[in-house]
Amino acid sequence: MLGRRLYSTASRYITSAKPTNGFIGAIGNTPLIRINSLSKETGCEILGKAEFMNPGGSVKDRAALFVVEAAERSGALQPGGTVVEGTAGNTGIGLAHVCRAKGYKCVIYMPNTQSQEKIDLLKMLGADVRPVPAVPFDNPDNYNHQAKRYAETLENAVWTDQFDNTANRQAHIETTGPEIWAQTQGKVDGFTCSTGSAGTFAGTTRFLKEVSNGRVKAFAADPPGSVIYSYVKSRGKSLDKEGSSITEGIGQGRITANLQPDVHLIDDALRIPDSDTIRTLYRLLDEEGIYLGASSALNVTAAYEMAKIMGPGHTIVTIMADGAYRYQSRLFSRKWLEAKGLADAIPAHLQKYIVLE
Ligand SMILES: Cc1ncc(COP(=O)(O)O)c(C=O)c1O
Repeated sequence: MLGRRLYSTASRYITSAKPTNGFIGAIGNTPLIRINSLSKETGCEILGKAEFMNPGGSVKDRAALFVVEAAERSGALQPGGTVVEGTAGNTGIGLAHVCRAKGYKCVIYMPNTQSQEKIDLLKMLGADVRPVPAVPFDNPDNYNHQAKRYAETLENAVWTDQFDNTANRQAHIETTGPEIWAQTQGKVDGFTCSTGSAGTFAGTTRFLKEVSNGRVKAFAADPPGSVIYSYVKSRGKSLDKEGSSITEGIGQGRITANLQPDVHLIDDALRIPDSDTIRTLYRLLDEEGIYLGASSALNVTAAYEMAKIMGPGHTIVTIMADGAYRYQSRLFSRKWLEAKGLADAIPAHLQKYIVLE
């Protein structure tokens, strides 16, 4: 009797009782969290897809799984093979996990500007990490080109090419988009997020546009120093970029193959300054108890701006790509915030969260 009573209380909290098929089975099906403070302020439902709850800690687990499984299906990757990628971090972390789960070796090339936490984690996950000087994409020594060249020297190896391999966007057409549609019971009116490879933004946008017959609006969110904002605003005529940003994993200098098929679906773009991003990051911590990385704080800021543009009564969804854990030595350091000119962007009552020197 007592057992049954306890179970009926507990079952309110249980959404899926079945064990998953290993690490891989735990990817996706993340919660959609209502951001109460911003929803109240705008009169909209502002919802964040909690991608930091993926087993590898970010949205990139989905892309990692899809690019590896596409290579398996094509026959390019056989048992015991090697996966090589150029990545600024989260894709590498997702790939390192997926490779351990499936028995592949994992080699990661990255710009040497990335946070030490990310580099260390990749090594702990068994990846062979190769930090290389940060040079533009058109330089043959860019980390992506080095990754490609290295894969070509090996037998039974693939360069997963997250930027232009459309298995990346397919992950979001098949999983993220349908999950958002089901979780909002088709009531989503707007979707916004920023782009790195653009797999998340393009794939999710493609699904939501198709399933809603074009009703769902899609706004590209962009940090300073990225070309997507000017590309959308100029209807493809300009690829201007201005400034730079503290955000990691997002910002792009070109239109990737993951974005190209969907550029005509983009309704508008928002450029979010770092001062707004950091304020949102601290606010979400204080008012919601949600601890997000900067790209996610930018996305939530964009959802808030989109809500103001669309007006009360709308449901706006964005992506909370990862948590702040991998960036905390920067985001919560007074010295670092001051060096970036951002310490004053954090309101007086939130300054208590700047706990590191
Ligand atoms: C923290 C973070 N946010 C956002 C993104 C962008 O996702 P996508 O590559 O799907 O555009 C990435 C990509 O690595 C990321 O690491």
